Amino acid sequence: MTLHSSEQRIVGVSSKLSNILRNVLKRDAVASTARAYEHVYGRDEAGSFEQRKTEYKRLTNQYYDLATDLYEYGWGRSFHFAPRAPNESFPASLARHEQYLADRLGLRPGMRVADLGCGVAGPLCEIARFSGATIVGVNNNAYQLERARKLSEEAGLDHLAEFLKCDFMHMDAPDDSFDAAYAIEATVHAPTKVGCYAEVFRVLKPGGCFAAYEYSLTSRFDPNNPRHRQIKSDVESGGALPDIPFANQIDDALRQVGFELLETRDLAENPGPGIPWYHPLVGSRFSFAGFRSSQVGRMATRGALRLLEALCVVPRGTVRVTGILDLCASGMVASGRLGIFTPMYFLYARKPR
Ligand SMILES: C[S@@+](CC[C@H](N)C(=O)[O-])C[C@H]1O[C@@H](n2cnc3c(N)ncnc32)[C@H](O)[C@@H]1O
Repeated sequence: MTLHSSEQRIVGVSSKLSNILRNVLKRDAVASTARAYEHVYGRDEAGSFEQRKTEYKRLTNQYYDLATDLYEYGWGRSFHFAPRAPNESFPASLARHEQYLADRLGLRPGMRVADLGCGVAGPLCEIARFSGATIVGVNNNAYQLERARKLSEEAGLDHLAEFLKCDFMHMDAPDDSFDAAYAIEATVHAPTKVGCYAEVFRVLKPGGCFAAYEYSLTSRFDPNNPRHRQIKSDVESGGALPDIPFANQIDDALRQVGFELLETRDLAENPGPGIPWYHPLVGSRFSFAGFRSSQVGRMATRGALRLLEALCVVPRGTVRVTGILDLCASGMVASGRLGIFTPMYFLYARKPR
């Protein structure tokens, strides 16, 4: 897999379907990258957990090389879910979910804060703007970082945004160097929770806090239920996730590395009146706003890409990539309806002084 040089790439917003996957990988590398990814994350690879963990860096990078344009096209610049109130717009709900972390961490001007797995900096921009803190986006994916730099510049936030290209399991940062840290639906890619949290603990200043939205299985998940297991596997295969843990495993890992737990809870449990987190992936016949992410919208996108692939406008293999993402989307919807999984297990922990 070889990346184009940055000069060769067109760093424009991936809002045009004809631009999907045209700027990240060499044209003939899309199909082979998707095949290599699927080789490990195939639907029936029951024995591949160890391989997912040992090769997490390559697999996650391959996944985000393939998925980033489609995420931006279908979802926006914040690659996460959010609780949503009855009359709240989807973008407003995403921003509120991001601001909640900033608020809980007490972020303010002068603080230096790590955003682990920053994506293309949608949340980073919102949180920097909201809090005035300097946010350091940590990400291991070169294409996403290029988008992140471009988008934070366009937002006029380059004075509050820094970026660090590294693996969050081994951060290129000194001990005790951040005032706070947060992660939004990113540390689920870590091969071990203990390894990941130990690294966050290392880079935080004593007294510094870590807040995150983690993926977790809920108490309704039954490991002996084949349907539950299949849904878990679909979400993992379609999302480059090594092994989604139960909530208590997350709490245990935080304690094990020395964090003091201030709060952990599933924000999707007993949410009150509102729109379920997985709703954008289902869609409504009456809403055009979220059409692209809805089931019908995704089918329409796939049909259009099939045509564009046949006409050689987008690279060969593009439709195959939509199949990977669709597996994740349908697994997410099924898991949300059954209440066996949450993408918003909120954790708030402190490194003791
Ligand atoms: C689902 S995306 C979430 C992105 C961002 N937090 C957001 O909400 O928009 C997961 C992110 O984690 C990053 N990531 C995954 N594993 C990583 C690792 N080992 N080191 C650094 N970044 C990683 C991916 O590149 C991607 O940007």
